[in-house]
Amino acid sequence: MRREDIEAILAEIGELKCKSQKEVEEARVRFLGKKGEVTRLFEEFRTVAPELKREFGKTLNELKQTVTAKIEELRAAAGEGGAAEGPKEDLSMPGEPFELGSRHPVSIVREEIVGIFRKFGYDVAEGPEIEDDYHVFEALNFPPNHPARDMQDTFFVSTGHLNPLLLRTHTSSVQVRAMEKMDLPIRVVCPGRVFRNEAISARAHCIFHQIEGLYIDENVTFADLKQAILLFAREMFGPDTEIRMRPSFFPFTEPSAEVDVSCNICHGKGCNICKGTGWLEIMGCGMVDPNVLKASGIDPEKYSGFAFGMGLERIAMLKWRVNDLRHYFENDLRFLREFQTATEV
Ligand code: PHE
Repeated sequence: MRREDIEAILAEIGELKCKSQKEVEEARVRFLGKKGEVTRLFEEFRTVAPELKREFGKTLNELKQTVTAKIEELRAAAGEGGAAEGPKEDLSMPGEPFELGSRHPVSIVREEIVGIFRKFGYDVAEGPEIEDDYHVFEALNFPPNHPARDMQDTFFVSTGHLNPLLLRTHTSSVQVRAMEKMDLPIRVVCPGRVFRNEAISARAHCIFHQIEGLYIDENVTFADLKQAILLFAREMFGPDTEIRMRPSFFPFTEPSAEVDVSCNICHGKGCNICKGTGWLEIMGCGMVDPNVLKASGIDPEKYSGFAFGMGLERIAMLKWRVNDLRHYFENDLRFLREFQTATEV
């Protein structure tokens, strides 16, 4: 070991400048690393003559302290947070894009409709998908021999007793449960999945989604029903929308009607979406049958109400003009990605 070696290092370290943390790290390795110049001198120290050890030892320790202090000073000066090992990554590199999911079109439509009825003061009620005959049919005034009670139309989970379990065919069952347990007046919408034993095609599916609504209070009239539906239709399809009601039949409402909205594509002139009529059918509705109120313990002399129900896929078809129902259930990403921007709105 020669004194000049130590002085050479001191001279060099005195002059040393680093532009980045990377250069500081390189300097640290060069002087203090396992094979660094200072480390090497410490190894050589073992062979130094005993009478010189004291002096060289002191000088070497001073050298190490000087070099360490200088490296620390350079590291602080080079900025970038002074991380012990400097930045490992190239921060200017483009990042990995996030895979953005999107809402399903049926969910978009459901949220829109629920949002409109919430503004009107309706609550949301939910109920079981596996229901009993009582809540799906009996309490809703379906006669015992009604075709909906046939295995051909309804999926039964259990049979052979008075109140068999089945997959609900409409969410009117949730309205029955609401009438049983809620205080009057009742104002609810019931969104949910329903099941019917249908062959799957572009126009029919064995699973689909509904939103049904129920309003019960004193003095509720057909005029209230009509106004509620008109306001809903204008919120949903635009302020110029008109509605018309055609007489219909449901066991649980009397009178009953089908509701059409004016075609917002051709504005009544007739196109292939409205099949030339200028009108699109969107829902069924009616005044709750007194038998239904009675079955759930509500006095039909004092209270009256209206109910309505619509299919979400049907509304989605009108909104986006996707006319094959199967698209809504296949989860083909090419289809679902079409709704990415609709979700962000
Ligand atoms: N429950 C009916 C259906 O599933 C829709 C409906 C609800 C009709 C309420 C009238 C009143 O088709």
